[in-house]
Amino acid sequence: MKRIVLMTLALMMAAGMVFASGQGEGMLDIGIAMPETHVERWQRDGAKLLEVAEEMGYTAEVTYGDADQGLQNEQIQNFITKGARALIIGNINEGVNSVVTEAAEEGIIVIAYDRLITGSDDYNYYITFDNFKVGEFQGQAIENALDLQNVDSDDPKYITLFAGSPTDNNANFFFDGAMSILAPHVERGALEVVGPAPMSSDDSAFTRIATENWRAEVAKARMENLLSNAALDVTLDAVLAPNDTLAQAIIEALSADAKYDTTDSLPVVTGQDAQLSSVQSIADGEQYMTVFKDTRDLATGAVNLADALLQGEETPEIDGARLDTETYDTGMKVVNSYLLEPVNVTEENWEEVMVGSGYYSASDFE
Ligand code: BGC
Repeated sequence: MKRIVLMTLALMMAAGMVFASGQGEGMLDIGIAMPETHVERWQRDGAKLLEVAEEMGYTAEVTYGDADQGLQNEQIQNFITKGARALIIGNINEGVNSVVTEAAEEGIIVIAYDRLITGSDDYNYYITFDNFKVGEFQGQAIENALDLQNVDSDDPKYITLFAGSPTDNNANFFFDGAMSILAPHVERGALEVVGPAPMSSDDSAFTRIATENWRAEVAKARMENLLSNAALDVTLDAVLAPNDTLAQAIIEALSADAKYDTTDSLPVVTGQDAQLSSVQSIADGEQYMTVFKDTRDLATGAVNLADALLQGEETPEIDGARLDTETYDTGMKVVNSYLLEPVNVTEENWEEVMVGSGYYSASDFE
């Protein structure tokens, strides 16, 4: 009996499974906390982060928070208990700050992933895409499709505005990027906003177009409501939708209305994420555009960043990302931010970009 115990112990030591001290310590190198699964991209982010971390020889775990910050905090807490040395976090709201502080106290590296963690000065690194540019692509798509440069106030175009979650800092960037293109046309009367009309994310009306936790059903219900009220007597030419999940929900609501029940009669609807259903929808001529943010590159960049920081580097260079040390302010400090480039996707280039890059295969599409 004693021999068996000794042998088991020897085997565990060989496999590096014996804990130095404390419960669970040393079981985990990198904890990966993703916010939700109802937006498809996060499942890809999570899978790729895990894959790259393991390839680099780290023990890693991924969790999904179901858009519930309390649940995500428990998941992060669990990573800390297991002795994580680095945390990669795509948070839900500022409620994450208590566990970020705890991680800082334990000397754990925290990387804000895709979404800036606001209201905290307990971390130093952020990796994301150029989110203002994502919004600019959406605004430009509408400007081009409606030929707004050649429209004037005696025959205006009509638009309805949607934004992402009010607790997600990215939602401000997307909206402000889009409005940097569209607001001038609204101001000169060529574009009329149906429903609440904030001109920037600072505007108090922004909360009225925001979509709590990026929930499709919230956007769909709001679109239905607009169709039977403010938009009843006009024909919409465009809907600014911040991402694909919401774009698809909005298109569902529109298609159920006799005014918009054919592909040709649908207004221009924007999106982002290049989720499969939206790329298909673009191929079918329904959704007008999306923005591709290659989650494989973001995940690889984040793990490379974690790796460099774990090795003691301070402002490492990350392949494919631009370091910005001035723009991203949590409200308490400016964090080192690594920015990747988004890609505009339309009916013209979806195949080349989405299949050509190997993100999808040709057989994914009908
Ligand atoms: C991400 C988007 C995503 C949205 C909803 C944002 O923070 O940048 O890619 O569509 O969250 O999950």
